[in-house]
Amino acid sequence: MTEVEVVVVDDPVRAAADYLATTVARGGEIALSGGSSPRPVYELAAKLEPDWSDVRVWLGDERCVPPDDERANVRLVRESLSSTSHPPELQPVDTSISPADAAAAYDVELGGVTLDLALQGLGPDGHTASLFPGAPSLGETRRRAVAAPAGLEPWVERVTMTVPFLGAARQVLYLVLGEGKAEAARRAFVESPSPSTPASLVRSAAGRTIAILDPPAARLLGR
Ligand code: 6PG
Repeated sequence: MTEVEVVVVDDPVRAAADYLATTVARGGEIALSGGSSPRPVYELAAKLEPDWSDVRVWLGDERCVPPDDERANVRLVRESLSSTSHPPELQPVDTSISPADAAAAYDVELGGVTLDLALQGLGPDGHTASLFPGAPSLGETRRRAVAAPAGLEPWVERVTMTVPFLGAARQVLYLVLGEGKAEAARRAFVESPSPSTPASLVRSAAGRTIAILDPPAARLLGR
């Protein structure tokens, strides 16, 4: 498992957007996360690199709600990439079926796919994607996607990519903003890997793992 390259900058959104835009320009398979942090990154990356025609975008996790629901990560991604001149091929999770069936279908669709980039968030409890502390999904070694019970707001079931599938990505990029994430960042990027902090388990096995943080989020990293 690769060491995390920790990058602390005053403008992490710009740093992450630059990184994402560079990956988009090369083309390939990209998994994006939901939550509040990444929207400005996607919007800026779409301006920095408007042509996403050589990119296929997957969801690192998805809430099991209709695609036009305001809680849907695919809606967040679609909206935040709306300014691209050539939008990406978007691979949504089929949330019209049960979470278990949706996860099984996504697992099949992900067959043969190696991510060029997995852009991950970090929850205050140390989760990433919808891999929650102590969850059975953390022990998954074979499937690429599994169903996950609600682990935080919004309290809906989810589908999430698994630790081994995210770990097969050539690049894993964490975006961590704000003082509220400082303790989770310490557990994720300084302490030894533990199922109590799922983000400490998700590393690119053979590529790069980069964590971009603002100074408040990095306060406890001892840098
Ligand atoms: C989700 C996200 C989730 C998110 C973290 C951090 O579907 O909720 O994928 O894993 O990345 O909860 O969210 P914030 O960026 O909003 O803090």
